[in-house]
Amino acid sequence: MRIAILTSRIRVEEKLLIEALNRRAITFDIVDDGDLLFDLARPDERWRSYDAVLCRCVSQSRGLAVLHVLEHWSIPVYNSAAVTATCNDKLLTTLALLRADLPTPHTLLAFGAETAVRGIETLGYPVVLKPTTGSWGRLLARVNDRDAAEAVLEHQETLGSYQHHIHYIQEYIAKPQRDIRAFVVGERTICAIYRTSEHWITNTARGAVTSNCPVTPELDSLCVRAAQAVGGGVLAVDVLEHPERGLLVNELNATMEFRNSIAPTGVDIPNVILDYVLSHVREEAVV
Ligand SMILES: Nc1ncnc2c1ncn2[C@@H]1O[C@H](COP(=O)(O)OP(=O)(O)O)[C@@H](O)[C@H]1O
Ligand SMILES: [Mg+2]
Repeated sequence: MRIAILTSRIRVEEKLLIEALNRRAITFDIVDDGDLLFDLARPDERWRSYDAVLCRCVSQSRGLAVLHVLEHWSIPVYNSAAVTATCNDKLLTTLALLRADLPTPHTLLAFGAETAVRGIETLGYPVVLKPTTGSWGRLLARVNDRDAAEAVLEHQETLGSYQHHIHYIQEYIAKPQRDIRAFVVGERTICAIYRTSEHWITNTARGAVTSNCPVTPELDSLCVRAAQAVGGGVLAVDVLEHPERGLLVNELNATMEFRNSIAPTGVDIPNVILDYVLSHVREEAVV
């Protein structure tokens, strides 16, 4: 058996995966995405030698491009290109959640600034504006009134790239000072954390503190259904606690970070991920 970990930088997560592979004496390569050169018409023999490729690229767009190529050559990848494409794009994620009838914040989409303001006012302030692609809580804006709405929209339209000209407008959920990050591997929510912060943006990349969140049957069922809604695999699900409507699925991540979630939950996340990948490799071998 031979595994490849595709990455741009060996972060704590990749180190933990490497340790887990070493402990199991599994042969693997670390492939730097900066070194890749694909001849699209000529499948690379080296890639064919892998039983599984784990995409851990830091750049979402780079990771997705590589997944498309490897899948084209029928190389087993985690997560699939389709799942990654959906999770990379908040519009596609919201549509997938709605299609599966899952609870998610009310979201509008608009293309012109004036129309966007009209939409914002039908939702009522505050609203959250988000780029449809992005992570780590970057470039999110909580907008409290019309002045702020007009200012943010003008900035997006004048200074933003073409992606910022798509206005993804969401109701603000008056959650407690935290959200929930749950980890789904295959059919199971393996653990979850609370991310607590003074700030309304509760990404750990923005300084939120993590603690264990019990995986209730309700949370497990919601997160597994959310994972299946985007195609399933190894996924992180962001959940917001609405004071009246209960748990709402905010978004999913296909290349998740988990360094801050092992200690509070006591779950060896990299090893559970490997168990999942290896069980698929073995199933393929049996077929
Ligand atoms: N509609 C919302 N209402 C309240 N808080 C939100 C809302 N959307 C996002 N947040 C907060 O901002 C954080 C980052 O938003 P998210 O949509 O997950 O974007 P990112 O891809 O940058 O993580 C969430 O974890 C949550 O704390
Ligand atoms: Mg998030």
